[in-house]
Amino acid sequence: MPSTPVPAPPGEAPAEAVKPLMRGISVLRALSDADGRAAIGALARTTGLARATLDRILATLARMGYVRLTGHEAVLAPRLMELGNAYLSATRLPERLGPLAERLADELDESVSLAVPDGDGIRFVHQSTRRRAMSLTFRIGDLLPAERTAPGPLFAAGWSEEEWERWRARRAGDPEDRGFPAVPPLPPEPGSRSGSGSGRRTGHARRFEELAARARKDGWAMDDQLIEPGLIALSVPVRALHAPADARPVCVASVVSHTSRHSAASLRETLLPRLRAAVTEMAQELARPPHMPRPPRPPEEPRPPEVPLPSRADGRPEGPGLASWTAASKQELGREFIESLARGLTVPTAFGEGRDALTLSAVAEATGLARATARRALITLEHLGHVTAAPDRTFRLTSRVLSLGFPALSRTTLPQIAAPHLAELSGRVDDSASLAVLVGDDVQYTARVATRRIMNVNITTGTRFPAYATSMGRVLLAGLLADLPYDELTARLARAEPRPLTRHTVTRPAELATLLEGVRRAGYALVDEELEEGLRSIAVPVVDRTGAVVAALNVAMHTSRRDVAACLTEVLPELRATAARVEADLDVVGRFTRVPAV
Ligand code: PHB
Repeated sequence: MPSTPVPAPPGEAPAEAVKPLMRGISVLRALSDADGRAAIGALARTTGLARATLDRILATLARMGYVRLTGHEAVLAPRLMELGNAYLSATRLPERLGPLAERLADELDESVSLAVPDGDGIRFVHQSTRRRAMSLTFRIGDLLPAERTAPGPLFAAGWSEEEWERWRARRAGDPEDRGFPAVPPLPPEPGSRSGSGSGRRTGHARRFEELAARARKDGWAMDDQLIEPGLIALSVPVRALHAPADARPVCVASVVSHTSRHSAASLRETLLPRLRAAVTEMAQELARPPHMPRPPRPPEEPRPPEVPLPSRADGRPEGPGLASWTAASKQELGREFIESLARGLTVPTAFGEGRDALTLSAVAEATGLARATARRALITLEHLGHVTAAPDRTFRLTSRVLSLGFPALSRTTLPQIAAPHLAELSGRVDDSASLAVLVGDDVQYTARVATRRIMNVNITTGTRFPAYATSMGRVLLAGLLADLPYDELTARLARAEPRPLTRHTVTRPAELATLLEGVRRAGYALVDEELEEGLRSIAVPVVDRTGAVVAALNVAMHTSRRDVAACLTEVLPELRATAARVEADLDVVGRFTRVPAV
């Protein structure tokens, strides 16, 4: 696997660059730097774009599902992560090395991360976090200045003089690291007016050059509280098997700890051998041809914990496809829609697993774009450092693609994913819509959009009800049927000691178990006045990419609003469409990150 070359910072744009694509990317970057949310007025100021231009760009990004517009604000939307996902699946690093990093983190009970270079910075492509309180945790896609990290010197060990020059220029231009929102700024130097080029910072710079030279010799590097007090890290480069010792690393693996548990010296002495052993395994893993079965693991070892699956369990195809907007007519897209921006942003989605280096023709074919259009988009993306071109005329994505919203979005929870879809559903059916998960024998509300008060209890996020008497509870319990034999399910239902909450409540465990079978087959649950007189609700499951039921979605109403038949014809299709939208977003967000259910 070739290492990622360091892209130069953009100079003047080539004549063929697509200006609307450049502007659209500047808006996405500005939103990302604002951690995913900004007032539109503020965006106009930070990007320097005219308000009318910005409005058209935002309308286009909203139509693509990459941002949401909420009155005066723009918010990054989960679907944008498909761009970063394309880069991550093309590198195969999280898929291949993630499980090994996870195992090492378990073994050491410390955080383990994988980083790649981006210019003179480093970006994380994987995090196996075991970090306790007290220190920063970085997200996938976060950019850190190389000189304040442990992986930095290992990448800098291979820099050309030109790359060192660029690094010096960046430090002189941004002495406090303001261009790296993920790290605390370096405090201004006491007694220094200009800040740049003098005293401690010059010392810092010289130290980094020495550290890079040492890292080249030692094959490891350390971060002894360069980012913040207490935070220490030890790093070892992962190189392709049989690559020369001075070849650029494919990535760098780090163990991250805290001074409350280790000194820099003890971290190195106790953990370096184990980190090195893990890195050797990582290099071997990268050398395995694709789709060769992994050697069996010794039986006493635990299964590696949650690592995103490489492909969908339901057989839906993975990989490039035409973007949804391409099917829409010009009229449907509206006059605001900037097609050249949308086309350009479709180009990264041509890349993915087994598609890391693509020719222009392959990009055009995968995206459905004309060759000339794909070519100009690639030239633009190359100019911005999101794509590199190899002498063999193939293109690759770079880690900079992760700067397009990935860190901010990588912490999205299921309730956050669902919230805008619930609001839309509630608006459409004019009744309350909610999301819930199973907690013990209860359902617990995790998101809710209320229209009118339908019950004499006030339901908010966090409210719990007995699962057996609610539509969401039945959908969630029915989800367990796949794992639990009928007898165990009945026993579990009995443990909840079902009580009649109204004169309609079904309480006999065997009867409930039979109802759950029906719910599982039908794919929905309708519960009529079993929790409260006058309350009718209907729920459907939300399923993740492995097929597991991760939440339930419902609409609840007073019985006078609709009869049962109307619930099935009017509400159920809307619920199902909403669940499909939530699942599609969950799929994108959950590809390389774990999505919290609460
Ligand atoms: C991290 O993974 O959070 C990390 C890695 C290397 C550092 C600092 C933090 O130097």
